[in-house]
Amino acid sequence: MPITAHPAFNKASNYFKMKLKRIPLNPQTREVDLKKMRQAINKNTCMIVGSAPNFPHGTIDPIEEISKIAMEYEIPFHVDACLGGFLIAFMDQAGFPLKPFDFRLPSVTSISCDTHKYGFTPKGTSVILYRNSELRLHQFFAVADWPGGIYGSPTVAGSRSGYLIACCWATLMYYGIEGYVKETRKIIQVARDIADGWSKIDGIYLLHQPDVSVVAISSNTFNIYYLFDGLHAKGWHLIGLQNPPGIHIAVTQIHTQPGIVDKLLEDTRQCVEEILKSNTKKDTVTAVIYGTNQKIPDKSLICDMTKLYIGSWYETNLDTATVG
Ligand SMILES: Cc1ncc(COP(=O)(O)O)c(C=O)c1O
Repeated sequence: MPITAHPAFNKASNYFKMKLKRIPLNPQTREVDLKKMRQAINKNTCMIVGSAPNFPHGTIDPIEEISKIAMEYEIPFHVDACLGGFLIAFMDQAGFPLKPFDFRLPSVTSISCDTHKYGFTPKGTSVILYRNSELRLHQFFAVADWPGGIYGSPTVAGSRSGYLIACCWATLMYYGIEGYVKETRKIIQVARDIADGWSKIDGIYLLHQPDVSVVAISSNTFNIYYLFDGLHAKGWHLIGLQNPPGIHIAVTQIHTQPGIVDKLLEDTRQCVEEILKSNTKKDTVTAVIYGTNQKIPDKSLICDMTKLYIGSWYETNLDTATVG
């Protein structure tokens, strides 16, 4: 999979003891290096992953080109459309045409698509689609001789809430195709407006033209995490990126409210101006965290610290619960 694919795949391959090869990006295009992807294939390769779009930079991987490789080597090809599936499916109708990214390409075998993101349904619902029912059968699990009866389970997760499924269905019916097309049009337009505004601010540059709803930036002039923390202080909760350092915004319905884009652009201009004016290199929180991560070659230490941090949530008692 491209290095930009979601860590959910690292997690799954860890659980299933499958070897995961992460393919770097071409530094110029910031798209996965297809030559290296091809070279990574061997007789044990059981799946290729592409994202439409990926989380860090919001770019759609070259799905058509990857599908040709998958076809040539007869390897199942999964398209991760978890993040933007409910946008890309409607972009053509919303006036932002895209190249094919789905079962129109003959070698795409499965697609994941989170309803709980741009489908606007409650958290905890998602969709996995298979090209055919034969592939889907591999997902199911059954035990025939259990004293509790014949057991069958459709997903990795065990008991699931019918309430969530009902809310998900109700939300899909509420929006309908027209509703999703309308929301898609607004969200994509706002993402493009932000990209346009940010690209005109000296000192920062777009990591990629936004393909969908995520706009990612970096800087060659200053530590981009200063901007992250500056915007955070003004109430913007953006996402910090690394390799290369950057920040991104994932545009949601809330950003389509009048005045929000102008406010973000104005706050960005102010922050950049302040950073460029102040010569002091006072490190801010995010600059320290990512700066430290860059300096520690053994990433297992950072993983251990991350797990300890998660563990600390469970140990915090109510009197001292100030974290997060
Ligand atoms: C591109 C992408 N893939 C997959 C996922 C799903 O991750 P998980 O199922 O672990 O929430 C996400 C969630 O943020 C995502 O953005």
